[in-house]
Amino acid sequence: MTEAPSRPVTFPTARRHLFDPPGEVLQWQRQGALHRMTFADGHLGWLLTGHAAARAVLADNRFSNRTELTHPPVAHPLAGQENRQLPPGFFLRTDQPEHTRFRRLLTGQFTVRRMRQLEPRIEEITSDHLDAMERGDRPADLVQAFALPIPSLVICELLGVPYGDRAQFQRDSAALLNLDSSAERMGAALVDLMAYMRDLVLRKRAEPADDLLGGLVASGELDDEELTGVALLLLIAGHETTANMLALGTFALLRDPAQLALLRDDPAVVDNAVEELLRYLTIIHMGPVRTALEDVELDGHLIRAGESVAFSLPAANRDPERFDDPDTLDVTRPATGHLSFGHGIHQCLGQQLARTEMRIAYPALLRRFPGLRLAVPAEEVPMRSHMTIYGVHRLPVTW
Ligand code: HEM
Repeated sequence: MTEAPSRPVTFPTARRHLFDPPGEVLQWQRQGALHRMTFADGHLGWLLTGHAAARAVLADNRFSNRTELTHPPVAHPLAGQENRQLPPGFFLRTDQPEHTRFRRLLTGQFTVRRMRQLEPRIEEITSDHLDAMERGDRPADLVQAFALPIPSLVICELLGVPYGDRAQFQRDSAALLNLDSSAERMGAALVDLMAYMRDLVLRKRAEPADDLLGGLVASGELDDEELTGVALLLLIAGHETTANMLALGTFALLRDPAQLALLRDDPAVVDNAVEELLRYLTIIHMGPVRTALEDVELDGHLIRAGESVAFSLPAANRDPERFDDPDTLDVTRPATGHLSFGHGIHQCLGQQLARTEMRIAYPALLRRFPGLRLAVPAEEVPMRSHMTIYGVHRLPVTW
């Protein structure tokens, strides 16, 4: 049995194995849900590893997600400056009641029904990319050929962002999520992305459009700065996240042929398989973070007002109190209740879209290329360890 850490820990980032959370975070979890943690700026707060406690804090409005109140769990190039730079519509980093105003406007756009209506177009986009991959060279990089372009094109069409501009915004959003970017590079990426979005909002004001951004402009509920922030959040969240799930999920399946065959051959498995891959891989691996607005008792500890709590969602999703045999990938398990999309008021707005994309894309890929395999040894796949969103930088495959 490992001892509970006697001194404050730092946020663990090195994954134990390609798909597993850092080893020490799982050990600490077995000792308790909350541990004292030193944040990257020296703040003494908490690391939260347990599923039930994570769920409770995410649903508790005594905790804030405002940038100026939260401390960075790992060194962040823009630490302390982000809040001055993020536009007001970046509602992920707002609390109630401000958050409610944005969320209410957007919830109607991301319903299960609306996502169902998008299915034929997502199928078409997926099949076009598989055609191009089949015609192209072998080996192929699955990230560039498949995992990145599909969600990117889908979110562009939904929002009304010209897909032809992707070289610029994909480069900038990648720089923004890369914790190894210099402060200058990250700051410049944010400024460029905001300028791009502000310009797009102004164009939609001049020429009304029948897309999500056009609809938000027409609603008259948001000013241009708020619209810029909303559009920025949706564009970044909408393509980087699903893209990493598609690539990392395929990698995990290629390493586990029996699970891959189940997903490929049995259409009834797909819903559980998508949830299980979300749980098992938990790509949001460096947070979220919340800060207590008042003293809160949790799990036998007192979290004082002003203290930040950093979540390890990968650990919470491997909590044996919540999931049997949590370290095993089992695409047939009814994996409901994972925290990969968060929980509470900030629970992922795009989750139905992400699910729809994954339910369509994984089986289509595996059926089109029954002989799909890695083109390099697994150890040579470059992992996104120091990125806000975990995944692979490239996935060389052949068939
Ligand atoms: C597999 C893919 C995805 C994962 C794992 C994911 C994960 C998450 C998580 C964990 C949060 C909560 C963060 C927090 O509480 O601090 C979140 C929020 C959010 N996500 Fe996603 N997401 C995914 C796809 C998407 C997509 C496709 C969109 C498309 C628009 C999207 C838009 C958002 C937005 C707008 C928020 C903020 C919601 C709010 O503050 O009310 N996400 N996501």
